[in-house]
Amino acid sequence: MSSRWFAPLNAPVNDWQGKRIWLIGASSGIGAALAQAFLALGANVVLSARRTERLELVAAQHANAIVLPFDVLDEQAWAAAQLHIRKHLGGLDLIMFCAAKYQPERSWEMERADIAQTLKINLNSVYEGICATLPDMLKQGSGGIAIIASVAGYVGLPNASVYGPSKAALINLAELLYCDLHGKKISVYLINPGFVKTELTKKNDFLMPALQTPEQAAAAIIQGMQKGQFEIHFPRRFTYFLKLLQIMPYRWRFSLFERFLNQQG
Ligand SMILES: NC(=O)c1ccc[n+]([C@@H]2O[C@H](COP(=O)([O-])OP(=O)(O)OC[C@H]3O[C@@H](n4cnc5c(N)ncnc54)[C@H](OP(=O)(O)O)[C@@H]3O)[C@@H](O)[C@H]2O)c1
Repeated sequence: MSSRWFAPLNAPVNDWQGKRIWLIGASSGIGAALAQAFLALGANVVLSARRTERLELVAAQHANAIVLPFDVLDEQAWAAAQLHIRKHLGGLDLIMFCAAKYQPERSWEMERADIAQTLKINLNSVYEGICATLPDMLKQGSGGIAIIASVAGYVGLPNASVYGPSKAALINLAELLYCDLHGKKISVYLINPGFVKTELTKKNDFLMPALQTPEQAAAAIIQGMQKGQFEIHFPRRFTYFLKLLQIMPYRWRFSLFERFLNQQG
């Protein structure tokens, strides 16, 4: 059989020294841990999110860090941020989307304003970032786009009423981006973490199986990129269970969920 079937889907990254990385959502959790790991590996990292003081704390003592705070909901800010990066770094090798909003809620608890804001932060902002950066990557003939979606996007999970569909859309987007951009030497990464202990999951009042630290998540993500993987999902003992739910007949899946929800009371 041709070795093409076993080749990594993206070009493996062996050396992060000097790589120009823009992290959106770098003030806490997985984004902050990724920023610290990439900075330690010698990459030039642009850190964005709304909380400037938190970004400055993450960037502290790293000459290779640029703090560039903005709100992803501000459409004008994207172009300004991109120009700032082009001026200071000359371009980008990787943009990583880590910003998200999550509110655990059943479908009867959803509110219109919250639905719109969650979809804008989780989904529209990724389109904004791609529109701002892809033209330059295409011109330079290299680059990378990494989208943090979630295993919550694999199947419709009760309690993830807005967050889950936003992540399902990101999975779909990453897949089609890969098909479009692979031939143009731009890597596309789909990152699907299980539960990670961050500000985002603090809101969960249920038991989170196989919970990881942000540092473990960052290490798994960087390792996956080094191997040139397209989908980076972890921890596998948990993510494979969710992948199984995807192919399970609906009748079985729904009855499992019903049992889980009854246990929660
Ligand atoms: N934790 C998990 O179990 C888990 C599991 C699967 C997937 N994920 C995904 O992993 C990514 C990181 O999440 P996390 O768990 O590390 O959560 P987190 O600690 O809450 O981080 C979210 C980041 O998004 C930024 N952000 C939110 N709204 C923003 C806005 N309007 N403009 C700019 N930045 C904004 C936050 O910064 P500011 O508040 O300073 O703006 C923060 O840096 C998210 O995409 C999340 O969906 C997490």
